[in-house]
Amino acid sequence: MAYVRWLGHSAFEVGIDGYRVLVDPWLSNPMSPVRPEEYKDSVDLIIVTHDHGDHLGEAVELLKLNPRAVFAAVYEVANFVSEQVGPSERIVGANIGGPLKLPGIDLKVMFFPATHSCSRGAPTSVLIMGKEGSVYHAGDTGLVAEMALIGELYNIDVALLPIGGHFTMDAYQAAKAAEMLRAKVVIPMHYNTFPVIRADPRELEKYVKERGLDTRVVILEPGEKFVFGQS
Ligand code: NI
Ligand code: MN
Repeated sequence: MAYVRWLGHSAFEVGIDGYRVLVDPWLSNPMSPVRPEEYKDSVDLIIVTHDHGDHLGEAVELLKLNPRAVFAAVYEVANFVSEQVGPSERIVGANIGGPLKLPGIDLKVMFFPATHSCSRGAPTSVLIMGKEGSVYHAGDTGLVAEMALIGELYNIDVALLPIGGHFTMDAYQAAKAAEMLRAKVVIPMHYNTFPVIRADPRELEKYVKERGLDTRVVILEPGEKFVFGQS
């Protein structure tokens, strides 16, 4: 079985095919139940969707705590990280498109577009596919029509969608995203961290129901895990 564990804001720990993956590891966020040191020597892969501080987070510190972990991001973000941890094969600069070649990691990881801004490269969303299942992390994004293509091409078990508005989609738009992605389960993220992104996650449930989707909305507490997929 695979799992996602919400670490507050857009930070998630994903357990899949025996790998431990951290996505957008801002572990010092106000809702975070963990500290970076708790992940010492236990992370296989770190993925960052874009270089805003609330997503890049403690990636560099985590790479130092996990000397064997692989880091994947858009090329320019990977270069920025490699300037801080030193050049290494494990810092993988990629881009939007087909599966990444990740040293020693047998997962299908693909970056897709996100409509947002960033200082380096381009903002992305990411799909992680293993034998046990698949997780789509939307990053920071407004609604993008490309989500329908992702849903058409790939089977998404769990979609992690921002609902806080202001910088990203809100719950109403996220329900449309869930429909386009054809996700079996959606989990809201990127809300209630700051006053400006205050949102009620039950609104997502309401809008998903209004659209007549059979998508299940799972609202996690920080630190909570959701288990899914094939064993
Ligand atoms: Ni951002
Ligand atoms: Mn953000």
